[in-house]
Amino acid sequence: MPVIDISHRKKFLAKGNVYLPHIVVIEKIIDETPTVRTFHFNFKDEKLRKEFTFESGQFAEFSVFGIGEAPFCISSSPTRSGHLEFAVQRVGRVTNALHRLGVGAEIGCRGPYGNSFPLDFLQSKNLVFIAGGIGLAPLRALIWNVIDNRDKYKNIDIIYGARSPADLCFRYDLDSWNKDKTVNIVTTVDKGDESWTGREGFVPQVLEQVAPSATKAVAIVCGPPIMIRFTFPVLEKLGFTPKQVITTLEKRMKCGIGKCGRCNIGNLYVCRDGPVFSYAQIKNFISSEY
Ligand code: FES
Repeated sequence: MPVIDISHRKKFLAKGNVYLPHIVVIEKIIDETPTVRTFHFNFKDEKLRKEFTFESGQFAEFSVFGIGEAPFCISSSPTRSGHLEFAVQRVGRVTNALHRLGVGAEIGCRGPYGNSFPLDFLQSKNLVFIAGGIGLAPLRALIWNVIDNRDKYKNIDIIYGARSPADLCFRYDLDSWNKDKTVNIVTTVDKGDESWTGREGFVPQVLEQVAPSATKAVAIVCGPPIMIRFTFPVLEKLGFTPKQVITTLEKRMKCGIGKCGRCNIGNLYVCRDGPVFSYAQIKNFISSEY
């Protein structure tokens, strides 16, 4: 699987003007960490609410009117209907504006864009999910999808880390996966506090200690650039070939549809060719650009 198939990319929802967003309503807000919030949302338009489809790994552009827009992965799984989710780390103008919103607020949404995780390729494989911080957001869209179709996949290992216990996102998911006997989850923090009784250590180090087998396995990685950069060599040491490693990137995206040229990594556009890539596709660019 040297290149992730993008033939199944969804058509843009906005007909005519591709930049025209649809109105969505914030239905619930979850404080994940001091700087990360998850927004549950739904389309205002009844028809769109029923007809909107997406695949795990795709993203959308969300706009706060009068402020601007930014891309976020859809962090819920298409196997769980009723509402959609995206998670936002407060880092700039748009994300701060999103964090100021309350339940009932209306924002813009255009998408879904980009390719998605290659479910066919993952079937009958052992899956090793490796995530750091808010990097769990796109992976949880896939993890829930896999759990909801559990018999199609083999072992599930999840290695998840954050800087501190307070920075662990999606604790309710971590709790569910901990209780799930078919999932092996290891949670770690770079540095614990007085209440932390779990594991300490950086994600790449913990990955090396856990040492999942590369046989009939695929590793799916998402996290801060520094984590990704140090995780790839560990996976190679464990025997994973670049084709057995998949990642999803969020990089300087603006238009989301291959027009502005802002999101290139080497000769690839993250929005148009990704955001899901195999390590084989990006190996040559990753050290210099990510
Ligand atoms: S975000 Fe504009 S080209 Fe990718």
